[in-house]
Amino acid sequence: MPNITVDLPQNSYAIAIAPDSLKDLGDQMKQLNIGNKVLVISNPEIFGHYGKTCLESLSAAGFETCTHLIPAGEEYKNLQSIQQVYDTAFANRLERSSTFVALGGGVIGDMTGFCAATWLRGVNFVQVPTSLLAIVDASVGGKTGVNHPQGKNLIGAFYQPKLVAIDPTLLKTLPPREFRAGIAEVIKYGVIWDEDLFTKLEHCDRLDSLEHISDELLEIMITRSCQAKAEVVGKDEKEAGLRAILNYGHTIGHAVESLTHYKQFVHGEAVAIGMVAAGKISVEMGLWTKEEAQRQDALIAKAGLPTEIPSELAIDDILETIKSDKKVKAGKVRFILPLAIGKVTITARATSEIISKALSL
Ligand code: GLY
Repeated sequence: MPNITVDLPQNSYAIAIAPDSLKDLGDQMKQLNIGNKVLVISNPEIFGHYGKTCLESLSAAGFETCTHLIPAGEEYKNLQSIQQVYDTAFANRLERSSTFVALGGGVIGDMTGFCAATWLRGVNFVQVPTSLLAIVDASVGGKTGVNHPQGKNLIGAFYQPKLVAIDPTLLKTLPPREFRAGIAEVIKYGVIWDEDLFTKLEHCDRLDSLEHISDELLEIMITRSCQAKAEVVGKDEKEAGLRAILNYGHTIGHAVESLTHYKQFVHGEAVAIGMVAAGKISVEMGLWTKEEAQRQDALIAKAGLPTEIPSELAIDDILETIKSDKKVKAGKVRFILPLAIGKVTITARATSEIISKALSL
């Protein structure tokens, strides 16, 4: 599998994608010319699967390692967990030249990145994503942070890793529901950026579990998604404009997650619902054809993902929640809406009336 570069004005880095490459992590990191102390941050389950291979690889390459485990789950993505990582960093005398390695999914990656951005005002950071969602989205692009009691990811920093080391074989231990959640983000790239990726996904018989996906298609899904993300982030690292397209499906998705108290849906499922809703709004506004919206919805359903906003959620509550989203600018809700498969626009012209009408169809 190829290497992809995230090309930035400062601190460009590689996304290295290769099956069975976790055992080579130490050698890959040796190329970065970093200091020899490494703090590996993970959760107990992931570390149980991959910690030994990771630490052995780092030690064999001459790194001195220490470990910090954070219990799995969004409820631990907070400043208390960060404080405990700082304690481990202090106890192990981590230095400016040291490196924090995130071995895990999006929660571990976001927290490790935030610790790396802030410990000693910035140490090296390497992402080793273990979920499909983290592989194709969260590990690339430098969004790091934790939740505040009043909202998700309200505390954070843009802080780019030195390397994203992707070993797709790690996906074999990912629960099927989490795999499907990652597929939602792959479909997202097809709709916002890469029509050919979308068509390839349409041609696959089943998308609802890893075992039904060929190695070849998995490679395409990972490389094309990472390529799309790298291109977008390369053009707009700090989300001044274009990068917002990566939030396709997230406006209504976040509202659904929030109104169901983060208990009913995992993030990718909420994004799937949000993409279907955004498609309806785009069709209602005359920006997208019904036929293409149906192609999107069929692909989402084929991946075993939900497509409907739960009937118990009132549209007025969704509208209210959308207005309090942290991405609202000058009081205007900006939607990412498809114009064609592979092309979206960012617009603040979706009024409450339009949204209500589209969502009640
Ligand atoms: N996950 C959206 C972004 O990285 O901008």
